[in-house]
Amino acid sequence: MASLAMTEPPGKRLFIRTYGCQMNVHDSERMADVLRPLGYRMTDAPETADLVVLNTCHIREKATEKVYSELGRVKEMKLARAQEGGRMVVAVAGCVAQAEGAEIMRRQSAVDLVIGPQSYHRLPELIAKVHRARGERLATDFEAEAKFDSLPAERNPTGVTAFLTVQEGCDRFCTFCVVPYTRGAEFSRPSTAIEAEARSLTARGVREVTLLGQNVNAYRDEDETGLAGLVRRLARIPGLARIRYTTSHPADMGEDLIAAHGEVEALMPYLHLPVQSGSDRILKAMNRAHTVESYRRTAEKIRAARPDIALSSDFIVGFPGESEADFEATLDLVREVDFAGAFSFKYSRRPGTPAAAMAGQVDEAVKTERLARLQSLLEAQQRGFNAAQVGRALPVLFERPGRHPGQVIGRSPYLQAVHCEGGEGLIGKIAPVGIVDAAHNSLTGRLMLETA
Ligand code: SAH
Ligand code: SF4
Ligand code: F3S
Repeated sequence: MASLAMTEPPGKRLFIRTYGCQMNVHDSERMADVLRPLGYRMTDAPETADLVVLNTCHIREKATEKVYSELGRVKEMKLARAQEGGRMVVAVAGCVAQAEGAEIMRRQSAVDLVIGPQSYHRLPELIAKVHRARGERLATDFEAEAKFDSLPAERNPTGVTAFLTVQEGCDRFCTFCVVPYTRGAEFSRPSTAIEAEARSLTARGVREVTLLGQNVNAYRDEDETGLAGLVRRLARIPGLARIRYTTSHPADMGEDLIAAHGEVEALMPYLHLPVQSGSDRILKAMNRAHTVESYRRTAEKIRAARPDIALSSDFIVGFPGESEADFEATLDLVREVDFAGAFSFKYSRRPGTPAAAMAGQVDEAVKTERLARLQSLLEAQQRGFNAAQVGRALPVLFERPGRHPGQVIGRSPYLQAVHCEGGEGLIGKIAPVGIVDAAHNSLTGRLMLETA
């Protein structure tokens, strides 16, 4: 019996599929952290998993539909497992879980557990209940504070970059968006807890953190210094070389945060600042709380503070009531601002949001045609931005080995992937790289000498 006690507990296999934004990517890592003490280890093969988690996104109709079709496939796997005498527990997490929990249960009998984004710390307890075949199967309370207090303090970062949640939820209620409903009201974590987490990540080899929040620049801490104060505080942590944050709202880009871009060296010169539309009429109908002119001024101020900054954005085409002239105003704004990168989407009607009930819903064919025109302009700008790096020397933070032996991959300050000849010893280091070639999504470079 003594030898039995020496052996490891039988490993349980965990498969997580993540949809949606970086917040979900981060939440998936945290779910794995919560389940690790129970013996769960990650697998890439869902059919062998004891627990399958779909961490879902509700932002557009397509995202939600994907979940239901994936659940169909998972059900087959679960049945196959049962025939072999095994058991697979299926959990739906994330924003679809929050928005449509009861409907998921009704539509897909294979689902054992539905768990909203503020309830992940309760996963172990809920899984135990499923195994005992009793108790609640739906956990969709909004208690961000309770979650942060009870998630394990120790994280298990796997690389040199990490996400760090500083804020969750959104109070802005853009009329097209489900996030305020799926993620609840804005909640900021105390800056002391964030700093402690950043220090612990840095001690484990992390060199870059991306501060996450649905409306991250609305971050408010106890001493009221906001995101700018937090960034300055984190920038003093020895070894933490790079700080990024996402996603920001243009109306929350305060003077202090703009100033920090000019003063804090660790704050990377790349900012995702979604504008959505270039028409004031549409921005108003979207309840965006900024105008074209205020966005333009904000962009100018940021560029004055940090001349080498690059901006990226999100766009929605075909919002209800969008005319050809409104759409052309968006193209004009894009030409004027010049974005280094962007995400653009056809407006998707989300049940329960104000825009879903608005008059003037735009034809699908018109949306498709506008999206193609916008994307060709945005892609040309992105290519131009990447091409402009050729001949420059960029500091690159090396993250992982490349596909070919002797190759390493890192990121430029502008988040571009940079491929380079070099040893794995470079991973975790920042070194200047001379950029020799640019493709659509990545750069190729040659290592210059010193490393930091
Ligand atoms: N908090 C962030 C992210 C919101 S979701 C922000 O404010 O930018 C990411 C993007 O999805 C949004 O910026 C918007 O461009 C897009 N989006 C949100 N709801 C949408 C909808 N109903 N249809 C199409 N795109 C949508
Ligand atoms: Fe959605 Fe608007 Fe909030 Fe962004 S700011 S999450 S688009 S409601
Ligand atoms: Fe999607 Fe929820 Fe993120 S709806 S975009 S996963 S906050």
